[in-house]
Amino acid sequence: MRRRGFIQKTFATAASIVMLSKKTWAALEQHISAFDKGNIEQLAREESFWLPIQRAFSPSANFINLENGYFSPMPLETQQAWIDNIRHINRLHTFYMRRHQFEDREQIRQMLADFAGVSPEEVALVRNTTEALDNLIAGLPMQKGDEFIITNQDYPNMVEAVHMRAKKEGIIVKTIDLPLNPKSDDEILQIFERAITPRTRAMLVTHVINLTGQVLPVRQLCLLGKARKVEVIVDGAHALGQLNFKISQLECHYYGASLHKWLCAPLGSGFLYIKKEKIADVWPLFGDVSTGVDNIRKFERIGTQPCSNHLAIAEAIRFHQLIGSALKEERLIYLRNYWAEQVKNLPHIVLNMPLERSRSSALGNVAVKGLSPTQLADYLYEKHKIFTVPIDIPAVQGVRITPHLYTTLADLDKLVAALKTLG
Ligand SMILES: Cc1ncc(COP(=O)(O)O)c(C=O)c1O
Repeated sequence: MRRRGFIQKTFATAASIVMLSKKTWAALEQHISAFDKGNIEQLAREESFWLPIQRAFSPSANFINLENGYFSPMPLETQQAWIDNIRHINRLHTFYMRRHQFEDREQIRQMLADFAGVSPEEVALVRNTTEALDNLIAGLPMQKGDEFIITNQDYPNMVEAVHMRAKKEGIIVKTIDLPLNPKSDDEILQIFERAITPRTRAMLVTHVINLTGQVLPVRQLCLLGKARKVEVIVDGAHALGQLNFKISQLECHYYGASLHKWLCAPLGSGFLYIKKEKIADVWPLFGDVSTGVDNIRKFERIGTQPCSNHLAIAEAIRFHQLIGSALKEERLIYLRNYWAEQVKNLPHIVLNMPLERSRSSALGNVAVKGLSPTQLADYLYEKHKIFTVPIDIPAVQGVRITPHLYTTLADLDKLVAALKTLG
């Protein structure tokens, strides 16, 4: 009897960790419920709706941060839940690790699976996109002479991992060039299709390109991969938590994302999806032979885990769902368009990004003729206290501008005014 009482108490503590601060979003929930969600285009432009959401964050008052691509800040209440979890785990100490962590992780796995529209048996909790995709890039079965297609706009960590496999195992890397302003999905599809040969085994597709914010037609590219028997690895670092979609709609087999980006979870939280029937084919990056060859948990043998991060993912999903994916995407693209539309026709400005809705995200890229990306970024920061990131690689030269939910129209007005003064 005493043992049963002990176990019940233990589990009650475990459940309470994940549920820790559910009640704390009450004021925001009440505010949001007072608005009609019928017309999200209109609501995305309704500043009185966004004010309390902006205030849920705590940006520095010393500068305007338009560099939200690296990672997203956590709203204050997510930060509080995360800190409470750290304290709780340190209080319970190894008792938490030995008795609670696995049960809690399963709850988070289920929440993430529901969020992404897939089965929990297809979701591994990893630390970031790099870890998710390195498992795939290194672990998919390939032989010497097999080809791996990447693009000139993929993220460096993934490019490095593909080239390392080439050095180690003699696979061939084929790098294709993507346009900054494609005319149609077909243009992109044809570029990939032309690169496929009978030796092509895998291709990397970046869902939202970090340099410019361009959204690629992932579903069609995954279908192309299926038709040509090419494994398509989707880099969703900037898509999950920003765009309104479910992985189940993409026809994809492999997807990696960073939850510390647009989902606003703590730094060091990532997501790996592999379709159930594909799991057995992929070798995990960290050694594992006993979890089960078709068990997604074989990708989680990374040693002692950042459990407090995992637990705060629950809070991040809750915040995201208060707004909803469709409205969040609509607002972020509205903010992107708000600045881009005001400068796009100025003769000294070049926009390195598509403006069509289906190819758009929160991220954008702007150049000023006659200034290097670093000169422009320095000018924006030093003269106007607007922080951005210069991008200067052969594929694109400009400054990346990335607003977030806490960005105000007044912040963007300052950016527009600063860009206009350079004419
Ligand atoms: C497109 C893309 N892929 C992958 C990554 C890597 O993400 P992480 O550093 O969280 O692993 C990034 C990071 O900015 C990215 O922009």
